[in-house]
Amino acid sequence: MEKGFDNFQKAKAEEERMEGTVKSCPFRTGFHIMPPVGWINDPNGLCQFNGIYHAYFQYSPLNVNGGGGYWGHCTSTDLLHWEYKDPVLTTDIPEDRSGVYSGSALVEDGRMYVFYTGNVKLAGDYDYIDAGRVSTQILVESEDGQHMSGKTKLLGMEDYPEEITQHVRDPKVWKEDGRYYMILGARARAWAEDGKRRDRGAALVYVSDDRKKWEFLRKIDSVKPFGYMWECPDLFELDGEKVLSFCPQGLEAEEERFQNIYQSGFSLLSRDADPEATFREWDMGFDFYAPQSFEAEDGRRILIGWAGMPDTAETYRNLSVKNGWQHCLTIPCELECREGRILRMPVRELFELEWEEVSAEKERYCWAEKTVKLDVRGIGGRQTRIRIGTEENGMTITAEGNKTELSFLDRNGKPAVCGGGRDRRVCRIEEAVENLLILVDSSIVELFVNGGEAVFTTRIYLENEEREIKLSECEKYKLEVI
Ligand code: FRU
Repeated sequence: MEKGFDNFQKAKAEEERMEGTVKSCPFRTGFHIMPPVGWINDPNGLCQFNGIYHAYFQYSPLNVNGGGGYWGHCTSTDLLHWEYKDPVLTTDIPEDRSGVYSGSALVEDGRMYVFYTGNVKLAGDYDYIDAGRVSTQILVESEDGQHMSGKTKLLGMEDYPEEITQHVRDPKVWKEDGRYYMILGARARAWAEDGKRRDRGAALVYVSDDRKKWEFLRKIDSVKPFGYMWECPDLFELDGEKVLSFCPQGLEAEEERFQNIYQSGFSLLSRDADPEATFREWDMGFDFYAPQSFEAEDGRRILIGWAGMPDTAETYRNLSVKNGWQHCLTIPCELECREGRILRMPVRELFELEWEEVSAEKERYCWAEKTVKLDVRGIGGRQTRIRIGTEENGMTITAEGNKTELSFLDRNGKPAVCGGGRDRRVCRIEEAVENLLILVDSSIVELFVNGGEAVFTTRIYLENEEREIKLSECEKYKLEVI
């Protein structure tokens, strides 16, 4: 019998058992990748392979609260309509028995090479930092993106630099000048001046000539400590800049920065070798983490993130859980770098859909089961307000000057039910706010400020009858639905 057969059977049985419940959930998304059942986290193995887009993802079909165990799979021809396939990877060798963790795909000569981390957590009294954890980098190959070959171990604990703890994961692999490169997220052992342990996040780069034998090349880290662990690194060229994307854990919150538990951002290494110097957050909303990019066949650099966050407070809830699923991925976005700023806007395919223009009668529109796209222009820094939801239960987006705010709080500072415990996020850009693009796909709102200079991703759980959009002080806008 095929390895992992039982696991795949269990996933399939659960998907079938829950199909009706998940499909009739009012919070299910139209264009955003969501789990067929259970939990989804990081996007993995993003690529375009023989013309078809493949998105894999960290998937826990058997547990709505996560825990992993699988790489889920879906495909698309336009990055918006996704067809769900059977999971492709599960925990079936000793090296990945506690998790088939995140990784990437490299497409070359009609073959897909998938790199991921096999995670092992030993049972016992361990700290799982210096002891009790084994992180192995593994390769599988595929001719069709669905059927995977046997697993080949590439790197194990013995291959990481001395100071690296047992946290080493999330290989992103690319080819450059005839050689292969792999970047890994890591946690390095370090001590503060007072002698106290203070680990430091880092990325490790390996090089290979054959995708199988890898040699350590260098470590990328910051001059001063910048978080204790970096997850999901990604290194790519964008309009002549060298971009390092990564998720530092352990940054201290500042009033208008680093507002979530863990961060996710990018640095322009071509401008400064110290990643902290140019670090900018990818997203200012409540729900964004672990993004991954890939290059489409037409040369576009596309980024998808997880519209979720690990280890959030108990009070921070996703109301789809009662219907057996949790979290989704973001809308795929195109990246562009202009004068040292990265702009992130939904892929052009979104704008090519057949949207129907509607008018907000008395500045109010009910969108119930539709997806909404609202484009507000000519703001010129004037106060602009958009309410999504009802007076009693909703979210308010306010732009004024160079500041944008997204808030679930009412006048008394009480958070709305539809925010599931989320409160308020703000962001300032360099110039005045000129335009806002708001995409509302059932339970996810994505807000793009000034052509993607700042983005807010957040989940919102409104019942169909509460789905209203109300515009105040918006002079020029276009409201469309599909
Ligand atoms: C990020 C992450 C990765 C890991 C994966 C496990 O959210 O913690 O570092 O590979 O999730 O699901």
